[in-house]
Amino acid sequence: MRVPSIDGISIWICRHDRISSPEDLARCWDLLSETERRRGEGFRLASDRHAYVVTRAMQRLLLSRYRATDPRSLLFDKGAFGRPSLRNALAESADLDFNLSHDGNVIALGMVNRGTIGIDVTASGCRPAFLGVARRFFTRGEVAALEALPDDARADCFLQLWALKEAYVKALGGGLSIPFDSFGFCLEKPASIRFHANGNREGTSPWSFWLLSPAAGVVMAICARTADRTQPTIGVYEFRPFAEDTPMTCRPTRASLPATIKIDKDAAL
Ligand SMILES: CC(C)(COP(=O)(O)OP(=O)(O)OC[C@H]1O[C@@H](n2cnc3c(N)ncnc32)[C@H](O)[C@@H]1OP(=O)(O)O)[C@@H](O)C(=O)NCCC(=O)NCCS
Repeated sequence: MRVPSIDGISIWICRHDRISSPEDLARCWDLLSETERRRGEGFRLASDRHAYVVTRAMQRLLLSRYRATDPRSLLFDKGAFGRPSLRNALAESADLDFNLSHDGNVIALGMVNRGTIGIDVTASGCRPAFLGVARRFFTRGEVAALEALPDDARADCFLQLWALKEAYVKALGGGLSIPFDSFGFCLEKPASIRFHANGNREGTSPWSFWLLSPAAGVVMAICARTADRTQPTIGVYEFRPFAEDTPMTCRPTRASLPATIKIDKDAAL
């Protein structure tokens, strides 16, 4: 099994609706802990159980590559607001941070070495009340920017803002306890993301942001603090349990910082 370098950011995307081999699913189930299996057995819908089992197996398989250990032996802790982390990180993986997100048929797992990462995938379904959600939770600047957009662009912009906000609060670990109007994004300039947070003048934040679309109708936001503050590397791979990863041609549609995108050969954004 090839281990992609994580000098930079690595993102794995799994379409769990494409994982259907009974043998692979049985092997996934075998990787789960007793607690995870009990939870898996509790799902009423087979589709929910399927997504849950593939998610847990994916997390164990990917993290075990960097621990050189049996995926079943990994133990997890949770922060005060539920942020998962590896228990007893060994020296070689103590600097490894990861974050997971799922929506629709897509699971995304991001990892970074010597840094911190938050990730969010949001499938563009029907979100009729999104302007009301924005007025209630977003900054005044974000609401004004949304209101100024034509109808067809407004929903896309909302999803991008939402995914960016989720990725940021997930990187911090505070989840929804962090008010969504205590920080904001400006997406007015093409291909750019400008970020500001309370007490943080623009340009002084350690956080960088990227928006990508790893599947049709899916917005993915990455928020990361990386060791390389000039042009970090991002590799995006399609993940299937027990198979080789496939590099994906998935370039950011917007970025707050340029990144080198690892595809087959490196290409800069
Ligand atoms: C974390 C949170 C933002 C997730 O948002 P979401 O878009 O619904 O879900 P996503 O699929 O993107 O992310 C879920 C994954 O994030 C991870 N996660 C959970 N809590 C997290 C946190 N506080 N920070 C970062 N990651 C977190 C988990 O891996 C979780 O997946 P899993 O349950 O399968 O392991 C949100 O559910 C949350 O804030 N939960 C914590 C509860 C909380 O803070 N309550 C206070 C209310 S004031």
